[in-house]
Amino acid sequence: MPSLSVFGAQWGDEGKGKIIDNLARDHDLVVRYQGGANAGHTVVVGGEKFVLHQIPSGILHDGKRNVIAGGLAIDPATLLREIDGLSERGIEVHPGNLCVSGAAHVIFEHHRRIDRLSERWLGDGRIGTTGRGIGPCYADKAARTGLRIADLVDPDRLRQRLGAVLAEKNALIGDVHGEETLDFEAELSAALAFGERLAPFVADTGAEVRAAYREGKRILFEGAQGVLLDIDHGTYPYVTSSNTGVHGIGPGVGFPPNQIDRAWGIAKAYCTRVGEGPFPTEDEGECGERLRDEGNEYGATTGRPRRCGWFDAVAVRYALELNGAQGWIMTNLDVLSAFSEISVASAYELDGRAVDRYPAALASLAGVVPRYESRPGWMEDITGVRHYGDLPGAARDYVEWIETLVGVPIVLLSVGPERDQVIPRGL
Ligand code: IMP
Repeated sequence: MPSLSVFGAQWGDEGKGKIIDNLARDHDLVVRYQGGANAGHTVVVGGEKFVLHQIPSGILHDGKRNVIAGGLAIDPATLLREIDGLSERGIEVHPGNLCVSGAAHVIFEHHRRIDRLSERWLGDGRIGTTGRGIGPCYADKAARTGLRIADLVDPDRLRQRLGAVLAEKNALIGDVHGEETLDFEAELSAALAFGERLAPFVADTGAEVRAAYREGKRILFEGAQGVLLDIDHGTYPYVTSSNTGVHGIGPGVGFPPNQIDRAWGIAKAYCTRVGEGPFPTEDEGECGERLRDEGNEYGATTGRPRRCGWFDAVAVRYALELNGAQGWIMTNLDVLSAFSEISVASAYELDGRAVDRYPAALASLAGVVPRYESRPGWMEDITGVRHYGDLPGAARDYVEWIETLVGVPIVLLSVGPERDQVIPRGL
């Protein structure tokens, strides 16, 4: 089975970076297909922490081809900082191990500005974005006024297109929001410098990934964010601006969907969310606070405290079903070692009636009341366990109970931030 899609099955921050890094060992290519610097994929290797925003998590292994595909909204300054930061720590990033699609869209300063100004404009109705310019960049892509990486490496085209676009953006920034406008020459020269540095990395990534599949190479598709933040299938409008699951791979890479051989979701043993929007199992009391402390639940990109709550089996079931997942990976199981009793939302109640499906309408979702069931905890350190049979009985009971509620087998468990703190299920 040469291709595998791995995606977040909650609201992001499921620990994808660590899992992708672990799975990368068995793959030749690691391909990011959507999102941008809003993501923060954390990988810990030998006690050293790496936070990757746009570079695929396969970069920490030798001999892997890491692909930034056309579906991304790339912030060139952040990308170059990531490349330099890794090189300073002894991980050389070069055109042999990283390539960037010329079709990927570019995030400019005006996108970041407009992201923050729109949030201010929305007031209480804000989305709680990461402020990285993601929404405005994808909006320009759809409006056909965006610039792509290929435009950055073509100075004449860049001058002409950026000039036209920035005139309109400055009108929005200045006339509507009453803020200082951006200087065209300064933006242009920054963009030209980015283009010059990125030029050696630019490639026809879609053709490369398709050829790799034909040659029988093993391809890992790395999702960012989570399915419940998907632009079409998440809790709209409290979502990010791309297709975060398997559905994003076709257009985001230029890869035939029928060649995506397997799909695995990733979900934490409890739930978190950053930003606004419905979150049925959110616990704003002591328990949520303990989950935040035990799990160190603060955003890898923005440092914001994450909203926390118990595992939501209805939401994860929906995410896995939507993406045709044959398996899933449960992360942060070790965080639950601190709890003498563990709850799970096995169903919702809406207007006094049981609902076992994830409601599509935001108004319904906001009104659901989770139906909780509880099991005893194990209250034992499990971070050193590497074989499923060595887990305490209560931990195995918890895993198998959730697996039954969700209806999809768990293929791997994660019990700590380090690369090797995983337990295969051997299914
Ligand atoms: P944006 O992607 O910055 O536009 O933010 C839209 C929503 O997605 C906000 O609720 C963000 O908090 C959330 N979001 C974006 N990226 C991530 C991520 O990597 N992890 C978790 N939440 C994210």
